[in-house]
Amino acid sequence: MKRSVTRRAAFLQIAGMGILVTAFRSFGFLGLFGKKQKGLEPDADGAVRLSLGDEKYRPLNETGGALKVDIRGMGKPVIVIRKDKDTVLAVSSKCTHLGCEVDLPENGTIDCHCHGSEFKTDGTVIKGPAKQNLPEFKASLDKDTVIIFI
Ligand code: FES
Repeated sequence: MKRSVTRRAAFLQIAGMGILVTAFRSFGFLGLFGKKQKGLEPDADGAVRLSLGDEKYRPLNETGGALKVDIRGMGKPVIVIRKDKDTVLAVSSKCTHLGCEVDLPENGTIDCHCHGSEFKTDGTVIKGPAKQNLPEFKASLDKDTVIIFI
């Protein structure tokens, strides 16, 4: 009699652990322990599409407008800039010095507030300590959709 209670207790403990693991996975509690992915998911071709009709991308309707877009797996947002009527630029916001997130462009430059590096809007270094350009991503404008290739 006592032996079957012990087996039952062991079974219930194992079953309980299984239920807990399933609950953690189902409800995303494991995100507390791992890095949670956020942002837009690139499609199979590595393209991310932003509809200019969407309120949150409205700055890109104006020449000189810029915003940051979170894209899954990128770590830091991508800066998207409307260069002119037909052209957009996309560069990483991860400073090539020590990895701080750079600011949105202002007065024609992208600045890093950590140690003072400055970049042109195409990512080219103007002033150090950063020595490398911000990585640029291929980006295009198709009617009212910005397409960024990651
Ligand atoms: Fe940007 Fe140092 S991390 S200048």
